[in-house]
Order: sequence, then structure tokens, then C-alpha cells
Amino acid sequence: MSFKAKMQDSSKSKGSNIVLALDFPFEAPENRNKVLAKALSVLKAVHPYICAVKINHHLVLPLGTFDGVQQLVEQIRGQGLLAIMDAKINDIGSTNQVIADYYYAAGFDALIANPFVGWEEGLKPLFEASKKLNRGVILLCYMSHKGACEGYGQTVFDLETGEKTLQYIVFAKKALKWGADGVVVGATYPQKIAEIKKILGEKVPIYSPGIGVQGGAAEWALEAGANYLIVGREITLAEDPAQAARKLLASLKCT
Ligand code: XMP
Repeated sequence: MSFKAKMQDSSKSKGSNIVLALDFPFEAPENRNKVLAKALSVLKAVHPYICAVKINHHLVLPLGTFDGVQQLVEQIRGQGLLAIMDAKINDIGSTNQVIADYYYAAGFDALIANPFVGWEEGLKPLFEASKKLNRGVILLCYMSHKGACEGYGQTVFDLETGEKTLQYIVFAKKALKWGADGVVVGATYPQKIAEIKKILGEKVPIYSPGIGVQGGAAEWALEAGANYLIVGREITLAEDPAQAARKLLASLKCT
């Protein structure tokens, strides 16, 4: 089963389209055990309200891929959830492949990659390795932060048509052509979600981060066409993460 189909199943069986970004603030390296303990405890409390977990460098750097992170991935998958690594893979193909091999060996179901590096000797080896293992590749399309316009929003010439277009439109078309399992579009830009949705339809799902702390609203993102919401600090930094996740999920069910 493809990662895209596994996400649909997970979301249906959990009754949630929330992807938890399991991020925590910096801790001195000698206190990294505290980070693992916090991550495990948030996961235990929040798992009934989410369909997947996204891990970022916040955890890989202090905990190590085959130490704490693999332990977390086992726990995530044991709870019937999927594990996504937000590696924003962005290098030459052979390096991308090694990065993917390590993350897949640690048990991740999908990786986030940056389409700026292109296909040949760029993301092609990553897509090929991922398809072979039934794992997913999710592409950045338009990021959630203010500076995203400088790269993802720039005007470019489409290499195939020679016409002027926008970088994120080119990336959305590449996501379709390359068979991506998803694209990331910031919840802070609902109009861009709607524009990208017109290109992708239901063929490539939209993952939308930037809710809460970054200023985006879940309902705007969903109305514009997002399929999954990536939510981090709004839940992980809440006094009661389970209550924050439950409340967010309940609010989505009313929209
Ligand atoms: P917060 O705490 O803002 O966390 O809910 C969001 C998480 O998602 C990451 N992030 C992104 N990842 N494309 C990505 O692939 C984006 O546009 C984007 N914006 C935020 C962020 O690093 C954090 O892990």
C-alpha cells in the first residue's frame, strides 16, 4: 500500500487529519534525556487525536537517529500512526539516497524533500528508493514563513512552456509528474493552498503547517483545500497537550 493510501486509512481510523509536529525547544546536550522523556509523554497523551507524527531536527540532533528517534518511531508506529521525517532533503541524488536509506532503516514512513534540487541526479534516486520500499515523498511547495515569497513565490520561466509562471505552480506540477505522496503548503497562505489545490485535485494531498503560533488558522487551510494539518507548538508547548489536541480536533469537526 502506498504512503498516500496509508495516510488516508490512518486518518479515517483515527478520525483525525492532524499531523503532530513533535518539536521542543533547545535543551543543553547533557539534558537530552529530558527531551526524550517529554516527547514520549506528549506522544502518549496526544496519540488518540492525531493520524501521524512529524519529526524534525529538534529531535534528531539531540537524540540521534538510531537511539531516541528510533525508539519514538517504534512508539509512533505501535500506536497505529505514521512517522514522517521533516528532513527537507536538498542535496545531490547519491547523498539524498543515503539520507533516505538511514531514515527508512530507522522506520520512517515518509520523508519531506525540497524540489529546488530538481529531478535528474537530484530527487529521482529518492523517489525510486521510496517507491521500492512503499514509503512516501512529500515535497515542499510553498513554505509557511514570511520569506517564502523570495524563493517559492518568485516569478520564473517554465522550462517546458517557456512562459512566465510562479515557482510554487511549477513545484505543484512537478509533484503531479513525479508522483509525490503529498505537498507542503503553509496554512498562513490559504489563497496559495486554493491555487495549488486546483492543480492537484485529490491526486496529491496537501499538508499544511503554520497553524496557531505562526498565525495560520486550521479552518482557513481546510476550506482552501488542505487535506492534513501539521501542528506543533500549539500542542507540544501547551500546559495540557492532550487537551490542546482534543480541542483542536473538536473544532475541526464543527467546521
Ligand atoms: P509549529 O510549531 O509552527 O510547527 O506548528 C510547524 C512544524 O512544521 C515545520 N514547518 C514546515 N515544514 N514546510 C515544512 O516542510 C513548511 O512550510 C513548514 N513550515 C513549518 C516546522 O519546522 C515545524 O517542525
